[in-house]
Amino acid sequence: MNEQKSFWEEKIKIKNFNIPRFMSAPMDGITDSPMRQLIRTFSPEILLFTEMRHVATIANDKKEKSLEYSKIEHPICFQISAGSTIFLHQAIEKIIDKKFDMINLNAGCPARRVVGSGSGSKLMENISQLQKIIHQCIKIIDNRTPFSLKIRAGYKEKNAYDIALMAQDLGVDFLIIHPRTQQENFIGTLDFKLVEKIKTKVYIPLIFSGNITSFESTKKTYELTGVDGFMIGRALLGAPWKIHEIMQKSIGNKFNISNKQSVKSALEHLNLNSKFYGSQVGFKLLKSHIAGYIKNIPNAAKIRNAIVTCTTEQDMQKKLTELIKIL
Ligand SMILES: Cc1cc2nc3c(=O)[nH]c(=O)nc-3n(C[C@H](O)[C@H](O)[C@H](O)COP(=O)(O)O)c2cc1C
Repeated sequence: MNEQKSFWEEKIKIKNFNIPRFMSAPMDGITDSPMRQLIRTFSPEILLFTEMRHVATIANDKKEKSLEYSKIEHPICFQISAGSTIFLHQAIEKIIDKKFDMINLNAGCPARRVVGSGSGSKLMENISQLQKIIHQCIKIIDNRTPFSLKIRAGYKEKNAYDIALMAQDLGVDFLIIHPRTQQENFIGTLDFKLVEKIKTKVYIPLIFSGNITSFESTKKTYELTGVDGFMIGRALLGAPWKIHEIMQKSIGNKFNISNKQSVKSALEHLNLNSKFYGSQVGFKLLKSHIAGYIKNIPNAAKIRNAIVTCTTEQDMQKKLTELIKIL
């Protein structure tokens, strides 16, 4: 018998890809290859996004470190930033050569150094430049991978509606919106009404990014906007299982992770970091994730302090292993 799938189980069709409605957000300094690999172990099919990389960095990266990833990360979308069309060609050819599945242009980053160079959310204030960059990306990609755009509500003024329609007309395959302005950074009120208005007008898939931390917040977002997909960002910090958890709850299943399993994931994260960055650097990069992994453990602050003050990988490995034993 062919059972009908619920809305939450249905896939989104993007060119020749069918992807779940839930995806992981690009987060610079967070969703690097080790983190993505860990997310993948819990969520086999979801679309993963790289951290944002400027096209000049990619074009000039002789060792191609910015393009490294593991095979298990497929399907994976590479996110670029650009303030002009210079380096677009070289960067896109390299990304396609490395067999990334999709390419996304960032027009939403609020960081001062990014907007200062005319890229990220600054592009929403410079519509003709944004238009030129999108047009050029689509021309270079020439249908070899899907191409998407990530926007905010606007830079100062909320013009996401016009930009979404422009992007659709130019041939963008799907859109992601984080409905805050540049000035609202990551904490202002989310403009659900704006997203709802865009959704009534665009026929390409529209993905929502902002404060999705549970199935309840996903459902609320859907009810308020009608969007096609949901991107999870900060809720993944120290919780790489978060998307799996939300997807399980969306189909009525229970999901629980014990403190022991959580610290085991932290240890796995440490090992993946060491493999990717080497033992001198890998353990240092785990420090920004650790609070999330241990947040439900009694005495979390004390344990966190003991872990973040580790000076070697071995020391950190030992502390985490001891913690696992007593949990
Ligand atoms: C530390 C950090 C880094 C981020 N880096 C990127 C990035 O590289 N590219 C991007 O499009 N968005 C980036 N974002 C924005 C997220 O993708 C997401 O849109 C935002 O955090 C809202 O979603 P959330 O509430 O689920 O975290 C970043 C956010 C944070 C907190």
